[in-house]
Amino acid sequence: MPITQHEHSIQYSRCETVQDLTAAQQSLIESAFQASDLAYAPYSKFNVGAAAKLKSGAVVTASNKENASFPAGICAERNLLNYISDHFPTDEIRSLAVTVNPLEFEVGEPISPCGVCRQVMCEVEKNQSTPFEILLKGTTGEVLIFDSASSLLPFHFYLKELKR
Ligand code: THU
Repeated sequence: MPITQHEHSIQYSRCETVQDLTAAQQSLIESAFQASDLAYAPYSKFNVGAAAKLKSGAVVTASNKENASFPAGICAERNLLNYISDHFPTDEIRSLAVTVNPLEFEVGEPISPCGVCRQVMCEVEKNQSTPFEILLKGTTGEVLIFDSASSLLPFHFYLKELKR
């Protein structure tokens, strides 16, 4: 059997300025930005904020929390998803915005969630009825828009057999 070659492309949208987004998208990015003020990031000084709009209309926010024992820290995205799981267990995420406001420098490009957060986003998405939108922004510059978590992490790990 010959080896066959395949390609997998990622679809996303780019928006030059937040003003070109919908009012709801702008508002969610603003919520994420405000959440970044609550980050505890004394080591990296990379203050990240995340905000989710839920099916019920609720907006929930979280930030990254670091620790002197570095691996004990958690990214804003997973901090948010864990909070939603505990406090809004029957709700669903419709849109997730992530932005960054570092203390000592500017980030002129959209933040790019780490692989672990992408993996967790994918599983949260699988457990609800529809995919959710993801908005990524730096301190300044363009916004990237993804239609789903799975488009951010093709070939993510999932084995339904593990649930048995
Ligand atoms: N971080 C996030 O909170 N989200 C991301 O998408 C990327 C990285 C955090 C983890 C750590 O506190 C700091 O940013 C630097 O890596």
